[in-house]
Amino acid sequence: MKFAYNLVMIFFIFLFQYSNGSNLILQSCKEASKNDPNLSYDFCVASLEEALSKCHPPPTNLEDLVGMSINLSKSNVTNMVSIISNLLKNKTFDQYTKACLKDCFDLYSDSLSALDDAVVAFKSKDLDTAGINLSASLDNSVTCEDQFKDKKGETSPITKENNVYFQLNVISLAFIQMFRQHY
Ligand SMILES: *[C@@H]1O[C@H](CO)[C@@H](O)[C@H](O)[C@H]1NC(C)=O
Ligand SMILES: *[C@@H]1O[C@H](CO)[C@@H](O)[C@H](O)[C@H]1NC(C)=O
Ligand SMILES: *[C@@H]1O[C@H](CO)[C@@H](O)[C@H](O)[C@H]1NC(C)=O
Ligand SMILES: *[C@@H]1O[C@H](CO)[C@@H](O)[C@H](O)[C@H]1NC(C)=O
Ligand SMILES: *[C@@H]1O[C@H](CO)[C@@H](O)[C@H](O)[C@H]1NC(C)=O
Repeated sequence: MKFAYNLVMIFFIFLFQYSNGSNLILQSCKEASKNDPNLSYDFCVASLEEALSKCHPPPTNLEDLVGMSINLSKSNVTNMVSIISNLLKNKTFDQYTKACLKDCFDLYSDSLSALDDAVVAFKSKDLDTAGINLSASLDNSVTCEDQFKDKKGETSPITKENNVYFQLNVISLAFIQMFRQHY
C-alpha cells in the first residue's frame, strides 16, 4: 500500500516537474474549455502554442501560464490600438463609423491599463482584482463591437479582431478560475 502510494507520488512529482510547456497548455486548455462553453479548445491551444514559441523560459505551471496568457492579451491590445488608429486615418469611413472607432480606441487604451493592473494584482495573488480587471478588459471588446450594431446598416470593420480579443480574455479568466481552485 505504502509502496503504491509512493509510486503514485513519484509519478505526480515527475509529471509536474518535467511536464513541458506544451503539455501544460494542452491540459490547461482542456480543463478550461470543459468549464466554460465560451472557450474554444482549438483557439486556446493555437494561440498559447504560438505565444510559447516566444516565451523564455517556458511556463512550467498554471501560475506561469496565467502570466503568459495575460501577456498575450497585452500584446494583442497593443495591436488593436495600432490597427484602430490606422483605420481612423482612412477617409472612406463615414462619420458614424469613425465615431465608433474613436470610442473603440479609447476602450482599448483603457483595456491596456486594465491588463497592467491585472498583472500587478495577479503577482500579489489578489485574484479578485485580477478577475475584475480582466473582465473589464473583456467587456470593452464587447462594447466596442456592439456600438456598430446600434445603427442600421453599419458594419464593424474589426469584428474578427474584437472576437479574438474577447477569446484571449476568456482564456485568462478561465485560467485564473482554475488557479483559484488549485491554489
Ligand atoms: C459567454 O459569453 C456571453 C457573452 O458573449 C455571456 O453572456 C455568458 O455569460 C458567457 N458564459 C459564460 C459561462 O461565461
Ligand atoms: C510577461 O511579460 C513580462 C514583460 O515583458 C515579462 O517580464 C514576464 O516574464 C512575462 N511573463 C510570462 C509568464 O511570460
Ligand atoms: C492579435 O491581434 C491581431 C490584430 O487584432 C489578430 O490578427 C491576431 O490574430 C491576434 N491574436 C494573437 C494571438 O496575437
Ligand atoms: C479604407 O477602407 C476601405 C473600406 O474598408 C478599404 O477598402 C481601403 O483599402 C482602406 N484604405 C486604406 C488606405 O487602408
Ligand atoms: C482594476 O481593478 C481594481 C479593483 O476593482 C480597480 O480599483 C482598478 O481601477 C482597476 N483598474 C483598471 C485600469 O480598470
